[in-house]
Amino acid sequence: MNEAAIRSKLVQVGQDRLVRQLDSLDDAGRRRLLAQLAALDLDLIGRLIESHVKRKPHMDLPHDIRPADSYPRTPDNTRRELYQRAVERGRRLLREGKVGAFLVAGGQGSRLGYEGPKGEYPVTPIRRKPLFQVFAEQLRAFGRDYGRPIPWYIMTSDANDARTRAFFQKHGHFGYDPADIFMFQQGMMPAFSFEGHMLLSEPDSLALSPDGHGGSLRALDRSGALADMRRRGVEHLSYFQVDNPLVHCIDELFLGLHDLTGSEMSSKTIAKSGPLEKVGNFVVADGKLQVIEYSDLPETLAMQTNADGSLRFNAGSIAIHALRVSFIERLNRGGQLQLPWHRAEKKVPCIDESGNRVYPDKPNGVKLEQFVFDAIPLAQNPIVYTTDRAEEFSPVKNAEGVDSPATCRRDQIRRHARWLAEAGVTVPMKDGEPDAVIEISPLYATSAEQLRTRRLPMKTVAAGESVYLE
Ligand code: UTP
Repeated sequence: MNEAAIRSKLVQVGQDRLVRQLDSLDDAGRRRLLAQLAALDLDLIGRLIESHVKRKPHMDLPHDIRPADSYPRTPDNTRRELYQRAVERGRRLLREGKVGAFLVAGGQGSRLGYEGPKGEYPVTPIRRKPLFQVFAEQLRAFGRDYGRPIPWYIMTSDANDARTRAFFQKHGHFGYDPADIFMFQQGMMPAFSFEGHMLLSEPDSLALSPDGHGGSLRALDRSGALADMRRRGVEHLSYFQVDNPLVHCIDELFLGLHDLTGSEMSSKTIAKSGPLEKVGNFVVADGKLQVIEYSDLPETLAMQTNADGSLRFNAGSIAIHALRVSFIERLNRGGQLQLPWHRAEKKVPCIDESGNRVYPDKPNGVKLEQFVFDAIPLAQNPIVYTTDRAEEFSPVKNAEGVDSPATCRRDQIRRHARWLAEAGVTVPMKDGEPDAVIEISPLYATSAEQLRTRRLPMKTVAAGESVYLE
């Protein structure tokens, strides 16, 4: 779109203020602002301003909400044979190079408050390895074990792309072959005033933020990542988020179940820590599997219990998925990814109409995001598989308290202590916690089962000892 077209579109969608702003800028500033505007879908934005910004979108809760079924972590008799076949299928997919890893790391990580991409955050208890390294080592271990490197797709955003690339460069891509890393940026969305004006962060710059992890499904297409997968013969993506170092980036059983059942999008779940835990809930709503956010699930439903006292809605979403490449291609056909937009009222530092900088102390604007789990109801045969919180989920979200670096460090140590104990090593305990600091490189073992096959250098860990296995 040329400048005249952008200006006329802006007027059409009620952004006269921005047109005046363009008039007030010098050439360089005007070019900068125009470039940002040219990257946006202004027709879509015009519609969203009416439906989601000036008013809260009307959301009908489904009539019939039931708990979702899920595959158990360990199979009962009826499923033993299926699980064996699934593990074999998962292994075959990996040997044949049909699985890619997909890390979404475009978020702003504002709650953690770390200056820089969250993936840089030093997370492991002894070596202080950054999150990116934890995933790289896992993926290298699987590539080594299956004799095929795993193509790694990493989504960043304009907010952190340059720093993420520089960080990977500086660390030699953590031993990964750069030819097997495909880094790309997701889309950005402007923030709006409650009246529907796009907000400015600088006189010549919109207040932009990433368009949500759901934007990943569009960005995979636009960036050429899907085409790269086709070229390489990648059929499935193992999706995970940057904040959870406990994730099994590759899980043969989960991938195998996903493929064998013909699922287009599969998800892992864990039992919630309580009825109101702040995670999405897997439900079947009006006949379709989907995730309802904790804030949208009526409390009367959230509190319901089964006859044995257990929570009726107990399947929490931990943002680990397997996705069929053909499904993502299908979602993008026709150029419009049909996922809902979610509205959040936020504090957005901005420049007001008179050119003054505003640092609001209460929400002054609206941000719009898409969520990846909203693709589940669009998928054929979606399945849910139950995993174990202690084994696979401890995200770093907040600077302190729940889901913080401290709880994540504790959970990494607990898990690795358990792995060691299962491998026959005596681990000292104090007040119910391991009385040692333990870190196991994924290159040494990616699971308790693999650790049992290693010739361990010790039979006992001493109280207070730091043990690093590589
Ligand atoms: P969160 O929902 O925790 O958001 O992202 P965030 O932006 O990282 O953190 P806060 O809310 O500002 O504290 C969960 C995962 O989704 C990715 C994040 O990088 C993280 O891996 N994400 C989120 C994106 O890749 N893009 C987005 O637009 C939003």
